[in-house]
Amino acid sequence: MTVRIAPSILSADFARLGDEIAMCVAGGADMIHVDVMDGRFVPNLTFGAKVIETVRKLTTLPLDVHLMVVEPERYFDSFADAGASILTIHVETSPHLHRQLAKIRELGCLAGAVMNPATPLDTVREVAADLDLLLIMSVNPGFGGQAFIPSSIDKVERARRMLTETRSRAMLEVDGGVGRDTIASLWRAGADTFVAGNAIFAADDPRAEIGALRQRCVEMA
Ligand code: DX5
Ligand code: ZN
Repeated sequence: MTVRIAPSILSADFARLGDEIAMCVAGGADMIHVDVMDGRFVPNLTFGAKVIETVRKLTTLPLDVHLMVVEPERYFDSFADAGASILTIHVETSPHLHRQLAKIRELGCLAGAVMNPATPLDTVREVAADLDLLLIMSVNPGFGGQAFIPSSIDKVERARRMLTETRSRAMLEVDGGVGRDTIASLWRAGADTFVAGNAIFAADDPRAEIGALRQRCVEMA
C-alpha cells in the first residue's frame, strides 16, 4: 500500500495561497484537500467553485474536495467544471447515496463517501464496491485543529475489513487531528490516505512535515 498525504488548505494562509500550494508540491504532497462548508451541515463557512478553480490553476495535483454541505448534488456540476478530481459527500446529507455517487462519476470525477464519528460504517456497506474513496472523520467536521478522537483507529480497522470483504478498491482516508502522534496507528489500522491541516501548516517547517508524516508510516511498515 502507498501512503498518500493530502494537506488541507483550510489551515493555509490564503493571502499566500500560491506559495502554500507550491510548498505542498515541493514537500511531496499527493493531493490537495479542499474543505467546502456551507454553514448549515457544519457551523462554519468556507468557499466554493471559485476557490477550487483558483487552486486548480496553481497545481496539477489531484484536488480532493470534501463537501460538508446539505444537498451536495447542487454543487457537482460547478465543482467538476472548476477542476475537482474527487468529490466526497457525507452520508448524513446524501439519502440517495448510490445515485449521487453515480452522478459524480458521470461527471468524470472520482466518487467518495464520508461519515461523521457518530455515524456507523454500515451506512456505506451497500455501495462500498462503487467507492473510489472512503473517508472516516476522526473529528466532528467544521474546523481545523481539533483533537483526534481515539476510537477512530478502531473504526478505520473495521472500515479496512469492510473494504476487503466487499472487494472494494477504494482509498481509505482519515481526516481530523492527523499528525505525527496519530498517523502511524491509523496506517497500521489500514488507512492509506491522510488529510492533515494543522499538523502541516502550523509546523516549523511545513514542507518537511509532509515527508515526516509519510516517514512515520514507512517506519511502521
Ligand atoms: C474538518 C476538515 C478537515 C480539517 C482538518 O472539518 O474536514 O479537513 O482541515 O484539519 P486538522 O488536520 O487540523 O484537524
Ligand atoms: Zn476535510
